[in-house]
Amino acid sequence: MLHVVLRMIIKTIFGYRKGNMMNGMTLTQFIIEEQRRVAGASGEFTGLVNDVVTACKVISNAVNKGALIGVLGSAGSENIQGETQKKLDVIANDVMIRSTQWAGHVAAMASEEMDDIYPIPPQYPRGKYLLLFDPLDGSSNIDVNGSVGTIFSVLRCPEGVSRPTAADFLQPGVSQVCAGYAVYGPSTMIVLTFGHGVNGFTLDRDVGEFVLTHPDMQVPADTQEFAINASNERFWEPPVRRYVEECQAGKAGVRGKDFNMRWVAAMAVEVHRILLRGGVFMYPKSTAESAGAGKLRLMYEVNPMSFIIEQAGGMSSTGRERVMELQPEALHQRVPVILGSRNEVERIVEYHQAG
Ligand code: AHG
Ligand code: MN
Ligand code: MN
Repeated sequence: MLHVVLRMIIKTIFGYRKGNMMNGMTLTQFIIEEQRRVAGASGEFTGLVNDVVTACKVISNAVNKGALIGVLGSAGSENIQGETQKKLDVIANDVMIRSTQWAGHVAAMASEEMDDIYPIPPQYPRGKYLLLFDPLDGSSNIDVNGSVGTIFSVLRCPEGVSRPTAADFLQPGVSQVCAGYAVYGPSTMIVLTFGHGVNGFTLDRDVGEFVLTHPDMQVPADTQEFAINASNERFWEPPVRRYVEECQAGKAGVRGKDFNMRWVAAMAVEVHRILLRGGVFMYPKSTAESAGAGKLRLMYEVNPMSFIIEQAGGMSSTGRERVMELQPEALHQRVPVILGSRNEVERIVEYHQAG
């Protein structure tokens, strides 16, 4: 018995080392090597991504310490969406600003937690990028020690614009230069795309670096898992209702197979699961008079996640159109979203087309 346990421990240690040696590139090295692939790249973009990565490390540390440093609970304020801000929403927002505003890579920022855009203060040089973020995604999980994340998107500041306004941010998802998210779970991870594939990095806290652990992530095309907040069922449109009912019918129904359901209530974490084992995530259009467009925000939640999902071979739609081609109308605009495994999302889009 003892030698079986010992063998397992040795296998775990050496297996871990072997995996690390194979993938061992740090995120810093990865970004610099990406930069070398782009002729004439100035390093500005590399610097920006590095600053965002630093911000995620700081947020990870605060999330990790939790009650020990008094960061749980409500901040007692509301954001523009009328949601009560958690202390960590406000802290994470400040960390993102402080980590990225000084270096001269960004012209302006926009965040879920700020009503208006944040221009770079006059004491700092302005760069050529626009940074958008949801500093803490799934913040209702914070007080119950559930997983949360950070989502970000990078756009180019339009040519010739030195003082960007909110209108300069209203670019479709296809214009994104980079998108990524961090997940603060049992491990802290960052998953990134620069428009050619998706790579995942795990934070090695002892070294203080993110290490490439999930190269070239791909969303499986088929799945037997879906994620939707079923408490809203009475507000779903018929195509979504049909899809979910068919999943629930399992083997005996038209799908001929059983499905499982998950709801983490943090989009970044749901998308991460879908990248690893497939699935569909839906926050669809609501027929409730007060809701309408859906819940999630186009510019700093749905667009970056759609970019990542598409780059990993998945699909993202409102049910009626490709998310990435939507022309944004407002900074905090909400849109319906159905994303994940290609064959399932295609099926749901067909259900919408069928009326
Ligand atoms: P945030 O904490 O940034 O406001 O985002 C939460 C979002 C999203 O990540 C998640 O999928 C959804 O809201 C959860 O909504 P429910 O409250 O309907 O579970
Ligand atoms: Mn969010
Ligand atoms: Mn948030």
